[in-house]
Amino acid sequence: CFSPHDFDLFKTEFELIVVIDALRATSAICAAFQNGIKSLIPVSTIEEAMVYKEKGYLVGAERNGQLVEGFDFGNSPYSYLNPKLKGETVVLSTTNGTKSINIAKQSENATVVIGSFLNLDHLSTWLSKQDKNILCLCSGWKDKFNLEDTICAGAITTQLLETGKFYSDEDSSVAAKYLFLSAKDNIFGYLKSSSHRRRLKKLNLNNDIKYCLNPNTAPVIPILKGDEIVELKDF
Ligand code: MLT
Repeated sequence: CFSPHDFDLFKTEFELIVVIDALRATSAICAAFQNGIKSLIPVSTIEEAMVYKEKGYLVGAERNGQLVEGFDFGNSPYSYLNPKLKGETVVLSTTNGTKSINIAKQSENATVVIGSFLNLDHLSTWLSKQDKNILCLCSGWKDKFNLEDTICAGAITTQLLETGKFYSDEDSSVAAKYLFLSAKDNIFGYLKSSSHRRRLKKLNLNNDIKYCLNPNTAPVIPILKGDEIVELKDF
């Protein structure tokens, strides 16, 4: 599913949903769990985030790539590497990523997990052991398609198809796989003219982009349980 806008077309068909916002929300979430946070509450609006802030929670908030004034941090994965976050519950609201997670939550019977390049192999290996129909939900940009999430979905799809256990009837998975195969040798370069790489570059966030595209630095499986994301362990 290339963007949350199309989610209604898919939501009843799938039992396992991987939410992807490679630049940067789901990468920041993977980095946070790799750093040992206890849980993360994804909220869609700044108003909800503010309610948590007033209750004393640590809250990250980003809109249009920038930190929202009045919050503890934004959406840079580097902010989530702070040792002070270990064992903590963090609340996060971002332009697209946390919105998609909450949209995925509407599929009452589906398991929702978080995907990015940071947990690519670990997540794909776990997914390949599940006997479920799997949907990659790309967060895109404001309900539109974006390249980086589709390439990440293509990387997951490629690994799953290679097991021989999975197949897809959807041209969207074929397209995602071919985009990944074209991009895989230099994803940073491939994204050079993509809208969000340009947006983040203008904000001097090239290092964040490189961090988010570096695969397998956070072998974690963040999974949604009720309103909170926790790390799936012991599987
Ligand atoms: C989002 O949720 O839209 C993104 O993660 C934007 C960003 O790079 O902060």
